[in-house]
Amino acid sequence: MRNKDTPAAIFRTAAAELGRILIYEAARDWLPTVAGQVQTPLGIADAEFVDPMQPVKVVPILRAGLILMEQAATLLPVTQTYHVGYVRDDQTLEATCYLNKLPPSFSPEDRILVSDPMLATGGTLDQVLADIIKRGGSQEMIRVVSVVCAPPALKMLGEKYPGLKIYTAMIDTELDARGYILPGLGDAGDRAFN
Ligand code: PRP
Repeated sequence: MRNKDTPAAIFRTAAAELGRILIYEAARDWLPTVAGQVQTPLGIADAEFVDPMQPVKVVPILRAGLILMEQAATLLPVTQTYHVGYVRDDQTLEATCYLNKLPPSFSPEDRILVSDPMLATGGTLDQVLADIIKRGGSQEMIRVVSVVCAPPALKMLGEKYPGLKIYTAMIDTELDARGYILPGLGDAGDRAFN
């Protein structure tokens, strides 16, 4: 994904595969389960099933967050998906919401999985988290998957949301003057779709 010569199709495939690995890490000790039994060909075995009554609430941040969640359904048996779209202003680095499909309310017990490929200033994710919490979600129940993070985002988010867990493939060194992560991977949305 970092390689500037990677074509968009391969970039997307790599992001989806990485998303699958990160979602696995985020979810493996997290899914609600119910005890049961299963009939094998030779007998009965105790088994633990993922509780189908408690879907994980999946929140992909468009655009590139969508690709990170592409394989979520192969790992998470029951999900409900709520898309949000944000775009960051090139000059001010402020993010603006252009799509918000969050439900009117969350329960504090809801498990909420958010994807944002890059945490640069962290401003985009901050807005999404604030909105989820305003609707009743609990920060302790939110997990974030991200490809690459910059220290300023992690510092700000860590101070503001101490109960939050972020699963990332890489922590890079810094932001440049334009608010891009260095060495980073460029603009994930553009690279995936343009
Ligand atoms: C990029 C990226 C993150 C955000 C990170 O999205 O995908 O969502 O910026 O920046 P921040 O941490 O400083 O807020 P962008 O606004 O370029 O939209 P896109 O995904 O549609 O390209």
